[in-house]
This record gives sequence, structure tokens and C-alpha cells, in this order.
Amino acid sequence: MTISVDDRRPDELEDQSPPWWRQAVVYQVYPRSFADANGDGLGDIPGVVARADYLAELGVDAVWLSPFYPSELADGGYDVADYRDVDPRLGTLDDFDDMVGALHARGIRVVVDIVPNHTSDRHAWFQEALEAGRGSAARERYIFREGKGPQGAEPPTDWVSVFGGPAWERVADGQWYLHNFATEQPDLNWDHPEVRADFVRTLRFWSDRGVDGFRIDVAHMLTKDLTEPLPSRAELDALPFDGKHPLIDRDDVHEIYAEWRKVFNEYDPPRTAVAEAWVDPSRVPLYAHPESLGQAFNFDLLQSDFDAGQFRQVVSDNLDLAAASGSSSTWVLSNHDVVRHATRYGLPPLGEQQRGRDGIKQGAEWLRSGGAEPALDREGGLRRARAATLFVLGLPGSAYLYQGEELGLHEVAEIPASERQDPTFFRTAGEEIGRDGCRVPLPWTAEGPAFGFGVGAPHIPQPGWFAESAVDVEEADAGSTLSLYRHALELRHTLQTGETLEWIETGRPDVLHFRRPNGWEVVTNFGAEQYPLPAGDVELSSSPLGDAVIPAETTVWLVRPGE
Ligand code: GLC
Repeated sequence: MTISVDDRRPDELEDQSPPWWRQAVVYQVYPRSFADANGDGLGDIPGVVARADYLAELGVDAVWLSPFYPSELADGGYDVADYRDVDPRLGTLDDFDDMVGALHARGIRVVVDIVPNHTSDRHAWFQEALEAGRGSAARERYIFREGKGPQGAEPPTDWVSVFGGPAWERVADGQWYLHNFATEQPDLNWDHPEVRADFVRTLRFWSDRGVDGFRIDVAHMLTKDLTEPLPSRAELDALPFDGKHPLIDRDDVHEIYAEWRKVFNEYDPPRTAVAEAWVDPSRVPLYAHPESLGQAFNFDLLQSDFDAGQFRQVVSDNLDLAAASGSSSTWVLSNHDVVRHATRYGLPPLGEQQRGRDGIKQGAEWLRSGGAEPALDREGGLRRARAATLFVLGLPGSAYLYQGEELGLHEVAEIPASERQDPTFFRTAGEEIGRDGCRVPLPWTAEGPAFGFGVGAPHIPQPGWFAESAVDVEEADAGSTLSLYRHALELRHTLQTGETLEWIETGRPDVLHFRRPNGWEVVTNFGAEQYPLPAGDVELSSSPLGDAVIPAETTVWLVRPGE
């Protein structure tokens, strides 16, 4: 006997639907700057609980929390002292459970950040390694080496850290340890079975607490080939990224993720993961493969101008890459590491020559000038950001939003040196201003202390102009960016469909038009000249439309009746 679709039980029917993450809108909470419930100036987990309704009204499918673990905050929490606890300044494990409950009750999934490349130097393992001394088993969990030159006073190699300055630090007994990021972030030795076992324990710990997925920090750097003699910096730089590079994007990292995948699949539904892997595009599918992490960030739009040609290329390339792995695409315009996209699009375009520079450095000149030079086109930047956002939210795949972008916030350039926190600022002697400008605590109200973030002085100072973008101001304004995001996410839930698109040629190099399978159409005019409005019912637009025209720098969502 054949069973027709209608004979199946509802739970079996549910099993047929694509996994939740494939086209999810994931909202990144940077917890220390989201909402401060206890008034100490640092955002916290109860602050997220207090704003759970806000997240539900925004219409996001999941929240990804940047690290909330105990940390000395040498790198904004990406220096983790204990992977299975909550920073006491941010709350307790009970608070965390409350937060998961509050978000789940509103249909919002929870993704947490796992930082496996390095621990904090305050982590018990590193403290033990320091105490146990050279040659000890405790040092094997990290990467300790003898120095070069007389008394080993020179670092083992001339490698530089991602944040600038040397990648080796000397400890009291004269040995050196490797840190690819800040000095307070010693790299772990992923050849060590205890390191592997401990992270599996951590993944189970959070999965058992109801966490739905994980964002894997610098997923491409865990495994290393440190066979002596170690190459010099110049030798490293000359090597291709072909899976055999000693430090970056090695093929053997996927053995780790294959093991993690088995752990994820022990759960129902399987836990998900997304790789933060800054690798050659051809190698992204390895991370996004269903037997590896399952999804990987595509950062190409962080490195693109507001430009139709660049956007179309990025979309086409990434849909192909997703198809190659069987994963869905991811779209990111802003995160906690880059200049906010409203600001990027208000500064002169990077142009072809500059493309490929990582997003962290975009706007560097403007940041260094304290926001003076080159002049920022605030209004234009926001108009373009709104258009880019609606374009991205119409694409197949999942969209990752960063807290504050729904308010149209600009980057904050005017943070005094004495208030800066990012290690890149200190490790480059201010040459790189760093990422604090996108990590300023959110404005919730136009009035009151810290714009409603909390009653204490916020851990990074907020500028006066935050008042205009406060949540309570934007909630009361149907034309605000918050209203646009809410409307877009609500519509997206009803319109989102299969993971394909079809380009419709516009005859204009500065206008992109695509159609999704159910008649949902997205048209973005990246140019300065208006464009005739195509047929269809207008559902939403990023700027007010003219009479049957799409004005400059505007996206419109249309639905063709009867489709
Ligand atoms: C990732 C994080 C960044 C952090 C770095 C080191 O790139 O996104 O914020 O500084 O890893 O953990």
C-alpha cells in the first residue's frame, strides 16, 4: 500500500520541511553592549531576557550571542577563561537558562559562539601551564617553544599576530608561547587529545542546555603543522592556501569538525554550526559541507561597495558555492568586527583596487580622523544601507544581522583613546583604530541615562546623536529603519520560499532585479537615475517611491499577482 502525503502524521510532515537554519534571519547580540539590567555599565544576560519581546517583534528566527563567558576582556570576550560558565558580570547559568527559555517561548532559536583557536591566559589550563614549567604535560595543551639567539631571548619566529605585533610572548622561565591574536589569547594545541575532548564536552554542555547552534570563531586556524624548522614570516607568506599551509585553512581541521558533526547529530533537531572562516572562496564548501560545520559565513559583501556589478557577482558566486556544498548561502552586511554598513556606504567607495581588503579596515582613514575626513554622507550612507539590506533580505539563504543595524546606526568614530578597548588599537599604537565604534551600547530611549541601555555609565561612551536612533523614537516612526526591518522580516516570513533566484535583465548596469520561485521580486536601483517601476504589487521599499519610478539607491519588493 502506498501512503499518500495526507496520511502522514503531522510530525512526519514536519520532518519534510527544510531545517530551520537554511533561510533563517539570525540576529547577533554582542551581549556586553546590548542591554544592561544590573546597572554596572556592561550589558548582561538578564538584559537580553528583558528585551526578548523586542527581538520577537523584530521578527528574527534566531539570536547568536557573541561570547558571554568569563573573560578578562582583552578581546571583547573572545578571550575565554571558562567555556562552560557565564561571566559573573553578565549573570549566571540560571540566567542563561532563563534566556533560552524566554527566547524559545517566542520561537527564537539560540546560537552561541565557540572560540576554539585560543583560550584566555586566565584559563585554568594556561595558568597550570605557566606554573608547571617547561617540558611539563600542562604546556603541551598550548604551543610553547624555546626562543632563538643568546639565552633564547629572541622569539622562535618572526611571525606577526592578526592584531599586529609579534605572535610570540615570553613567559617568566624564558619559554615562548604562540598567540595568533592578542597576547592574552594563547593558541591551543589541537594535536592534543585533551583539547579535542574538552571542546566536545563544551558542545554537549550547551547543547544539553537547549542551545540550537554554534558560531565557530576563526574556524580555519585550529590545526597547525609546527614541524621544526619553523618557516619564517616571508616563507609563510609565499605559501599557497591549498590545505597544507602550516597555519591557515588546513585540510586536517575538518577531522575535528567531522567529530563535532557526530555530536551535533546526536541531538534532535541536530545542532547547527556556522564557520567564521576567512578562506579562499573555493575552500568555503569544505566548511559548509553537511559532514563538517554545515554552514559558513560569506563575508564578500563586507568587502564590496554599494555597487550593482559587485553585488551581482557576489550573489552568483555564493549561490554556486552553496550549491557545491549543499548548504545554504549566508549574507552579512555588518558584524562586531567591521565598520557598520550605513557608514561604509557613506564614505567614498573602495573601488576595484581596494577590494579584498578586509572589512575591518574599511573606513580606517575616517576612523583615524575621529570621523572628520573624508566627510561622511550620513543620509546617503543610511539610504544605501537600507537598500542593501532589503536586497539581502530578499535573497535565498540565511541573513545575519548585527545589533543596532535595525536602527540604522552609524559607526561611532569619536571614542577617546582612553576609552578604547580593542587590542588592535593598542597593538598597532593607534594606527588601526579597531572595532569599538560598532560595539557602542545600544540606545533604547532618547531620554534617560545611557539612552536606556542601563543606569550606569556605559562601558564605551555613546555619542549624543544616538538619541535620534533610539528604539523608542524609531518605534513611533513608520518611516524609521526599525519599522523597515520589522516590516521586511514579517513579509519575508510569508514570502520566503525555495532557495533559488532568477535574474531579470534590466538593461541598466546599475539596477539589479531578481525573481524568487513564487513571484516575489526584488529590484534594487544602485544608481543615481530613477528606474521605471516594474509591474506587480509593491510590498515594501527602502525609500519612498516616486510616481511609477524607483528613485536612486532604493530597493523595492514586488509580488506579481497570480504567481
Ligand atoms: C574572530 C572574532 C573577533 C575576534 C577574533 C579572535 O575574528 O570575530 O572578534 O577578535 O576572532 O577571537
